[in-house]
Amino acid sequence: MDTMDVNKMIAAILVAGIAYTVAGMIGRSVVHEEPLKQPAIKIEGMPAAAPAPEAAKPAGPHVPPIAALLASADPAEGQKIVQKDCSICHTFNKGGEPKVGPNLYGIVGAKRAHESGFNYSEGLAKLGGTWTYENLNEWIDDPHAVVPDTRMAFAGIKNDKQRADVIAYLRTLSDHPEPLPSPTAAETKAQPAQTAAAAPAPAAETAKPAGPEIPAIEPYLANADVAVGKQKVESLCGICHSFNKGGAPKIGPNLYDIVNAKRAHEAGFAYSEGLAKLGGTWTYENLNHWIYDPRAVVPDTKMIFPGIKNTKERADVIAYLRTLSDHPAPLPAASGAAAK
Ligand code: HEC
Ligand code: HEC
Repeated sequence: MDTMDVNKMIAAILVAGIAYTVAGMIGRSVVHEEPLKQPAIKIEGMPAAAPAPEAAKPAGPHVPPIAALLASADPAEGQKIVQKDCSICHTFNKGGEPKVGPNLYGIVGAKRAHESGFNYSEGLAKLGGTWTYENLNEWIDDPHAVVPDTRMAFAGIKNDKQRADVIAYLRTLSDHPEPLPSPTAAETKAQPAQTAAAAPAPAAETAKPAGPEIPAIEPYLANADVAVGKQKVESLCGICHSFNKGGAPKIGPNLYDIVNAKRAHEAGFAYSEGLAKLGGTWTYENLNHWIYDPRAVVPDTKMIFPGIKNTKERADVIAYLRTLSDHPAPLPAASGAAAK
């Protein structure tokens, strides 16, 4: 072997070495190095590695168990909190579109990272298991403590009662709500009365009677004050609705030209199932009922609004809504004579 061959050999070895190193560098920069959950090579007869504990982190000691609290939780309060704290990022109706976060219909008992196609954080995607009352309790208390890289940018609800209310509400968002957890023996001893309270599911929704007689709006519309209506609408409804032509929806849909519009009129808006299914159009009379008490019309409505009980005020509001149109609907026939 002459020196030329030796040089070639050395060169070949060097090139191969460099290529190997570079390939390794590229490989490492493309593929994140992560500790393997299980040994890459299984050796027969060796004890299998214990499955990774579902959350390395123990439940924060400050998060008390939720079972006892759930027994006395108020889903209606929970709904208010959810509207305020969660609905900016989540939809809650069946089949609703994801927003910044996934849709949460049926989340109690669902598997974690349940929405296929949603871009979950790696941590949540890998967590596994299902959403139980207990781990929802921890999650809503502090999502980052459960999944450090979570994409849910939410500080958490620290008030135990409020968390219980939220979970009690989430529970109702289901075709078949999960049974409430039975408080543990110790808790049952401490609060025997609450076990009974846990039994009746909050299915009272349907039990709601028609409610008090709501006076017909027609006679009032003739003398309604549009300017007063405008003030009312701005102060009472403006936080959730826009009223200008082509205005973007807020928490509620845009309401330009709502008189005689079909119900659930705004395409793409995540209406409650109840309103979406209601059908028909918004007449003066059913706006009257809606504004008196939206929940009496649609029990699962997402419009969290107690209603305007004063008939003159409702008439003012409706009279103003009527003007928000390229072609305002005629006033009802009964008041035609009175109209100017
Ligand atoms: C700022 C936006 C934001 C807010 C506010 C928010 N979330 Fe989330 N939420 C997300 C995102 C994003 C995810 C996905 C998290 C991930 O991938 O790590 C998520 C995930 C979840 C999950 C897990 C869903 C699944 O499919 O496993 C639950 C449960 C949840 N949120 C409940 C709530 C509740 C209850 C509230 C209000 C108390 C709330 N979130 C407030 C953005 C938000
Ligand atoms: C806290 C937020 C909020 C307030 C306040 C509020 N709304 Fe709503 N509104 C909503 C939401 C959310 C919906 C969708 C309801 C659903 O899907 O069940 C809605 C729906 C409606 C609809 C039906 C629209 C359609 O497309 O069918 C009308 C009409 C309406 N609101 C009128 C009013 C009026 C008038 C006021 C004030 C007197 C008011 N709302 C106050 C949130 C609100």
